[in-house]
Amino acid sequence: DKGEYRHFMLKEIYEQPRVIKATMEGRVTKTRVLEQALGTEAENLLDNVRHVQIIACGTSYHAGMVARYWIEELAGVPCSVEVASEFRYRKHVIQQDTLFLCISQSGETADTLAALRQAKKAGFRAALGICNVPGSSLVRESDLVIMTQAGPEIGVASTKAFTTQLTALLIFTLALARHNGLPEEKETEIVEAIHRLPGQVSDVLALDGEIAEMSKAFMDKNHSLFLGRGSQFPVALEGALKLKEISYIHAEAYPAGELKHGPLALVDSEMPVVTVAPNNDLVEKLKSNLEEVRARGGELFVFADKLAGVKPEEGIHVMQLPSVHPITAPIVYTVPLQLLSYHVAVLKGTDVDQPRNLAKSVTVE
Ligand code: M6R
Repeated sequence: DKGEYRHFMLKEIYEQPRVIKATMEGRVTKTRVLEQALGTEAENLLDNVRHVQIIACGTSYHAGMVARYWIEELAGVPCSVEVASEFRYRKHVIQQDTLFLCISQSGETADTLAALRQAKKAGFRAALGICNVPGSSLVRESDLVIMTQAGPEIGVASTKAFTTQLTALLIFTLALARHNGLPEEKETEIVEAIHRLPGQVSDVLALDGEIAEMSKAFMDKNHSLFLGRGSQFPVALEGALKLKEISYIHAEAYPAGELKHGPLALVDSEMPVVTVAPNNDLVEKLKSNLEEVRARGGELFVFADKLAGVKPEEGIHVMQLPSVHPITAPIVYTVPLQLLSYHVAVLKGTDVDQPRNLAKSVTVE
């Protein structure tokens, strides 16, 4: 039931504060990740993990890409991320003590399951699943599962599944990091940031009207570019995926530092450039990338921390977002991009919940 909402996608975007909270529940105290957060068997599995191999598709793959930044930064464990359809058809070298981590909303994605079955035969240390559907194949076949509490996701374009996957992945990262000597104060700092997420996501939802206004600039465009740096690069990828899935506008995402290595050639007044700019140590570099775009007549749409110092001027539309912890920023900065693509699709009159050619769960390869 869509209730008061026009589409399932919009309803699911608005559910995020609640379902992020539900995904935290029973896993964190005010200041720490609970010992039992991942179940009793987890403790052994997390000991001596030397490498994490993440496998997923689509939006779940983007969640894995964000997690790689977290796992390497907080747990100090090397992490690889690959789409399932590539991983399963190539020869791979298995590093010792690798934890195999599959991320899937449905738990039924054919390629992800095939990769998991292969990995089990090949002798990975253990298979961890992050999943939203109880009783799904992924849940049944993994050694250890962290359920996201997003509830049923009906819209083909994944929204709340992504932000709850990220929430679960961050809690997992902290549990793993504890085995690798993350200082208690650091854990507390991040757990406190996790607790602020539902409120911060609600603050972003309050910008809905402004974002709807902004979306008008995309209606008659055929192409767009999304830029981000660091853990915001996967957020840019996810923003671009949302726009292409439901509005059918060609959207490409690039790490902002790659601009000069090619995509800058595409930039002109017909190419809107969307950028996510939380206030982290890369923001100054990002700002000079934005200048490069503006100098070529590109129109910029920047979602920026109010402290990041990105000023609106001719050709730069700035939407100010709450100040957030750099670690949790990918979760908060995803939300305005979901709303942006939603409103563009509504303006274009596409079938938002059932985009052409796509199925909710890809159970055949
Ligand atoms: O159920 P899964 O998370 O395994 O699905 C993976 C992708 O098929 C899925 O995320 C797809 O990319 C969505 N349509 C994205 O919005």
